[in-house]
Amino acid sequence: MTHKPLSPRPTIMAVSPDRHGALDHFELESLGYHPDEILDFSANINAYGPPPGIREAIAAASIERYPDRESLALRRALSECHATPIEQIVLGNGAAELVWLIAFAFVCPQDAVVIAGPTFGEYARCAALMGGRVQTVEARAEDAFKVSPEHIEQALRLSPRLFFLCNPNNPTGAVLDPDRIAGWAAAYPATLFVIDEAYLEFAPDIPSTFQYGLSNILVLRSMTKSCAIAGLRLGYALGHPTIIDGLSRSRPPWNVNVVAQAAGLAALADDRHMHDSIAKLRRDKEKLVAGLAELGLPTVSSTTHYFIVDVADGAQFRRRLLTRHIQVRDCASFGLSTYARIAGRRPDENTRLLAAIEETKG
Ligand SMILES: Cc1ncc(COP(=O)(O)O)c(C=O)c1O
Repeated sequence: MTHKPLSPRPTIMAVSPDRHGALDHFELESLGYHPDEILDFSANINAYGPPPGIREAIAAASIERYPDRESLALRRALSECHATPIEQIVLGNGAAELVWLIAFAFVCPQDAVVIAGPTFGEYARCAALMGGRVQTVEARAEDAFKVSPEHIEQALRLSPRLFFLCNPNNPTGAVLDPDRIAGWAAAYPATLFVIDEAYLEFAPDIPSTFQYGLSNILVLRSMTKSCAIAGLRLGYALGHPTIIDGLSRSRPPWNVNVVAQAAGLAALADDRHMHDSIAKLRRDKEKLVAGLAELGLPTVSSTTHYFIVDVADGAQFRRRLLTRHIQVRDCASFGLSTYARIAGRRPDENTRLLAAIEETKG
């Protein structure tokens, strides 16, 4: 006899998976393309690749042993780098895992969660999975996608449990002044301010919001993009020991594998390649933006190497470029269906993108 299968919790069934950049292997298979043939502008990764020491460190990692559950060596290295005690650092299997842990540890059913949007979809998804009530304060095209501080303040006055802000923002590259964020955190102590700085390395003039040392500011960092280790993924959170302890208690055991820990240590030991290559990406981006303007495609000003561009129909623009083995991010899942997001790459690759756009123009 077959029984009706059990249903997952109702909140789980009410939440859809989010869409992200990077290659969709199933889609490529259905088109008959191999992933290696695709030039990917859809993920905001450092296109100059990982620092030179990383591959050697990975090869030497002891994969026959379980990883250090506490990632002590890497947390000690990060502790030096950020001049902060290791009790204020927790590592994640990418910054995305930390977003999930924050929701798991801090969101009770019906808690209010405010998000500055349009932005990375996992904040809303995780909060909703935990039964939180999500309110998004949307930035508007007419304000060049800079979120209105007045609108954020209105939402904060209701003392939400969490406030998520991506700074610099994905997908727009817009930045909010850390002084202003710290002012809000001081004024609204019942709210945990989660400031996702996954892209801070790509905007080197912007200071970290961690510097203020406020107990209700939790900063997320990702080495995934800046160190080009997307296949490994590595992120960490910096915050007050009590908040960090809450996240640490919520972690699955061994959440950061041996290889990612080794890669993180090697990346911190030599960050010259990362800084030099990001400086190049920033210069290369200016040419790419100028090239797009010549093709009649207006980009939105961003502080990062990635930016959004009004292409009239993001999904169609993406589909056309994919026929040339080039992928960009269609922004429909951000609520911006007329836009595509492009992460600038090396000069020859950017030239290939511009040529493909010209050839596939409708
Ligand atoms: C804003 C933001 N935060 C976090 C992540 C996830 O980073 P990781 O790959 O380190 O989990 C992403 C990935 O796209 C992102 O855009």
